[in-house]
Amino acid sequence: MQEAIQKHLAEIAAHTASTPEAVEQFRIHYLGRKGILNDLFEAFKAVPGDQKKVLGQELNKLKIAVQEKLESLQAAHASTSGKSEGIDWSRPTGALPLGTRHPLAIVRQEILDIFSRIGFTVADGPEIEDDWHVFSGLNFPPEHPARDMQDTFFIHKPTQEGEKEMVLRTHTSSVQVRAMENQKPPLRIVMPGRVYRNEAVSSRAHCQFHQIEGLYIDEGVSFADMKQTLQYFTQEFFGKAKIRLRPSYFPFTEPSAEMDVYWGLNSEADYRITKGTGWLEIMGCGMVDPAVLSASGIDPERYSGFAFGMGIERITMLRYQIDDLRMFFENDVRFLRQFQ
Ligand code: PHE
Repeated sequence: MQEAIQKHLAEIAAHTASTPEAVEQFRIHYLGRKGILNDLFEAFKAVPGDQKKVLGQELNKLKIAVQEKLESLQAAHASTSGKSEGIDWSRPTGALPLGTRHPLAIVRQEILDIFSRIGFTVADGPEIEDDWHVFSGLNFPPEHPARDMQDTFFIHKPTQEGEKEMVLRTHTSSVQVRAMENQKPPLRIVMPGRVYRNEAVSSRAHCQFHQIEGLYIDEGVSFADMKQTLQYFTQEFFGKAKIRLRPSYFPFTEPSAEMDVYWGLNSEADYRITKGTGWLEIMGCGMVDPAVLSASGIDPERYSGFAFGMGIERITMLRYQIDDLRMFFENDVRFLRQFQ
């Protein structure tokens, strides 16, 4: 058997095949059901135990040699086969279509850039959150109706101690709490992210959207600082600096406001999108409630701050005059390609 293997090894090394048919014959000769390797492995069963180790290694060597030879024969025939003849491999290809950035990503980046110019850095946090970071730490008492303002998706997360109730965060304000717990003031951060609300109001409603949150905490931060910061933002982003703050309510800010920008009434579209008022609501904001500061371990006697939050979809719709939210999620390339 030893001799037979050596003979085959020599044969294989010297073997040539001039046609694809000859390659196939080689394959059948060695690897076919009645081929040489099968015969040898069959004979191997009868080999006495003390020779099995050495012979087994030889046999494996043969098998590998056959496979390698077959691969090299096949490769040689693939590259000389008729199909590739006459192809000029050096010819340049045509331009490949380039993807474009999603309008939401463009606007998010633009907003982050605007705030980074005045010293804000970016922070983020998890989308699956606990009650504390989404509600309790933000001064939403248990059973407070404000929790219904944001229809929450509750989920059950298996842990070693049993199931834990978690929520899909309904706003990026949860990242505020994490930042205040983990960093010492001064804090100056913007927090973009995906949020979830269980809103089956209409076919236009979407259960998932994006927000950008901002937080500024330091000694002596005032409502006027907030107004100035937001005005800087609208000036940079929309090119419009006329804003107004209307009283509003959020459990985690006091006082709270809605910030509107004066859009103007220069076209028919302006009348439609501002409902004839000229004003557009852009974001919620307010001075961080002292109770929220102390819940996160920040001394409200020493520090104060403001926060704001806006929906990226809404801002993007205004920026590009898009009037159907669904465009953002359908991924129609004819739509997406318009944003270079
Ligand atoms: N979290 C609020 C919302 O989702 C927005 C907000 C953020 C308001 C920060 C005030 C301050 O509606």
